[in-house]
Amino acid sequence: MKSNKRQLILAFETSCDETSVAVIADGHEILSNIIATQIKSHQRFGGVVPEVASRHHVEQILHCTELALAEAQVTYADLTAVAVTYGPGLVGSLLIGISAAKALAYAHQLPLLPINHLAGHIYAAQLVKPLHYPFMALVVSGGHTELVLVSAPNQFELLGETRDDAAGEAYDKIGRVLGINYPAGKEVDRLAHLGNDTFKFPRAMIDEDNLYFSFSGLKSAFINRVHHASQIGETLSREDLAASFQASVGEVLVNKTLRALSAHPVDQLVIAGGVAANQGLREMMRANLHNNFPQVELIIPPLRLCGDNAAMIGAAAQVYLATGAPAADLSLNADPSLDLVRY
Ligand code: KG4
Ligand code: ZN
Repeated sequence: MKSNKRQLILAFETSCDETSVAVIADGHEILSNIIATQIKSHQRFGGVVPEVASRHHVEQILHCTELALAEAQVTYADLTAVAVTYGPGLVGSLLIGISAAKALAYAHQLPLLPINHLAGHIYAAQLVKPLHYPFMALVVSGGHTELVLVSAPNQFELLGETRDDAAGEAYDKIGRVLGINYPAGKEVDRLAHLGNDTFKFPRAMIDEDNLYFSFSGLKSAFINRVHHASQIGETLSREDLAASFQASVGEVLVNKTLRALSAHPVDQLVIAGGVAANQGLREMMRANLHNNFPQVELIIPPLRLCGDNAAMIGAAAQVYLATGAPAADLSLNADPSLDLVRY
C-alpha cells in the first residue's frame, strides 16, 4: 500500500560551478535550496577552471547538506530518496556530488536516483506550475541550446540544437570583448535594455526550415565589428552593441521556438536554463506567443531557479521515481556528455 506521507528528496547538483543541495517535497515544494556559488574564484580566469571547481565542491558539499536539512527541518530518517546530477557537466565536479550522494544513500539505506542536469533545468518549471504532456521546452544555458518535445514524463525528443556555440556561451564570449566579467549574460542583458539594435548583426539559420541554431557567426560578426572600430579609433556604444547582439539571439530563439510550436501542438512552453533569466528573451517570447499562440501557456522559472540549483534536480527526481525507473547502485559514475535522449 502506498502511504500518504510526503515524498522528501534530498538532491545534489555539482555539475559546474555551483555547489547546491536541496530538499524537495512531492516534486514541487521547495523546503530548502542551498546554493554556494564559486563565481568569484573563476572570474579572474575568465571562465570555470575544472580543478578549482572540484576543490570548491569538496569544501562546500557537507556544509551545504547540513544547511539544506536544517532549513527544511528534516532528518535522514524522513527522506524518501537521495538524487544527484550525474551528467552532463565537468567530470571532476560531477564526481563530488555523486560521491556525497552515494555515501549518504548507502549510510541511510535510501534509493540513489541518477538525474540528468538538462532534465533538471526543464523540470524546474514543475516548481512553478503543474506540467501537462506533451509540452515544449527551450533549453538555453552556458552549455546547451536545444528545443525539446517532452511527450510524457522523462520522454524527451530532441527537435533541434545548436550546431556550434550555446547561447550562454556566446553571451559570455562577447561579454568578454565588452570587458564584462564571466558569466556575462546578466550584465549584457542590462546593457541591452539601455541601447538599440543599430548594428543589425546576422540572424543565423533563421530562414532555414529546421530547428537548428548557430551562434558562432554572430559572435564573430560582433568581435570583428569591435576590433575594426578599435583599429580605426572609432568608439562604439556598448549599449547598442549589447542590444544588437541580444536582438539577434532573441529573434532566432523565438523564431525557431514558434516553428517548433507550429509543428508540434502543445499547451505549455517551458524556457529553461541560465539564459532563461534573460529579460529581453522573456519579453520577446511572451509578446510573440501572445500574438501567435495565445492558447500556449508560457512557464519560465523565477531567476534563482533558472541557473544551476539542486531544487530542479529534486523536481526531476520525483518524475524519475514516478516513472518507476530503477535506482542506481554504488557503481554510478559521472557521464560528462550525457544527453536527454539517452537518459
Ligand atoms: O544553466 P546555467 O546556470 O549553467 C549551465 O548549465 O550552463 O547557465 C549559465 C549561463 C551563462 O552562460 C550565463 O552568462 C547565462 O547563463 N546567463 C544569462 C543571463 N543570466 C545568466 N544569459 C543571458 N541573459 C541573462 N540574464
Ligand atoms: Zn545548467
